[in-house]
Amino acid sequence: MPHQNSPTLRLPFEKFFAVSEKHRWRMEKDVDWDGIQRDLVTEQELVTLRRAALVEGFTPGYAADLVPVFVDEPEMSAFFSIQHYEEFKHYHALRRYLKLCGVEIEDQEVCEPRKSRTEYSDPLIVILKFGVSEIFTAIFYREISRQTKEPVLKQLAHFISEDEYRHLSWYTSYLEWYVKKHKVTAEQVTKALGHYQHQGLDAISDWIDHWNYSGQTYTGREPYVYLAKLLRRTVGKGVDLKSLARRTSNQAEASTFQ
Ligand SMILES: [Fe+2]
Ligand SMILES: [Fe+2]
Repeated sequence: MPHQNSPTLRLPFEKFFAVSEKHRWRMEKDVDWDGIQRDLVTEQELVTLRRAALVEGFTPGYAADLVPVFVDEPEMSAFFSIQHYEEFKHYHALRRYLKLCGVEIEDQEVCEPRKSRTEYSDPLIVILKFGVSEIFTAIFYREISRQTKEPVLKQLAHFISEDEYRHLSWYTSYLEWYVKKHKVTAEQVTKALGHYQHQGLDAISDWIDHWNYSGQTYTGREPYVYLAKLLRRTVGKGVDLKSLARRTSNQAEASTFQ
């Protein structure tokens, strides 16, 4: 059902919710927690998963930052209620997986970074920052699932990746709608993406190391190819992603995109 008065179609929350419910995986029943083969998980996988878990565990902080920006926008605020539930579920599941592998995450470590808030003045920044990040995240978990030898991690990362791809479909649809409605230009998007950082930078101090390792090991060029196609379709030619790749990989240039 198209949104009333929309200049173009966008994915309605009702449909997003129906698909989310249909594909919901259950924490207790669908993950074979007793089947973890500890000897098949590498130490580097545990380091990577721990960092990913801490970013997912920042979700209450993201919710505190994002909900006020869209409080008058019924579709996006409804979406957040599901996205934030699912991101925190990812944290909950990853933390349990890590614990069963002998790696702990203390509450203090998750809560400490949430003390500083990020204020967003422009909804476009939020759509780009969190939408673009879903591209990287969906591919990251998909590749962990493909590459790991540990069967339960393979299963869990697959479930998480499917959730992230659903979040991505929401953000891409919303971006297309938003760009048309507000007549956003390629120049405006280029300018905004010149400040892009994945939201993981808000959550963990060693984010850039995590980003670079994940880029080399899991995501590669694929997110950039996807993003280039998406932006060409949405705002036309002229969006340059080189500065995004450079800025996100460089500790000296890292600062929160707001
Ligand atoms: Fe997530
Ligand atoms: Fe997500």
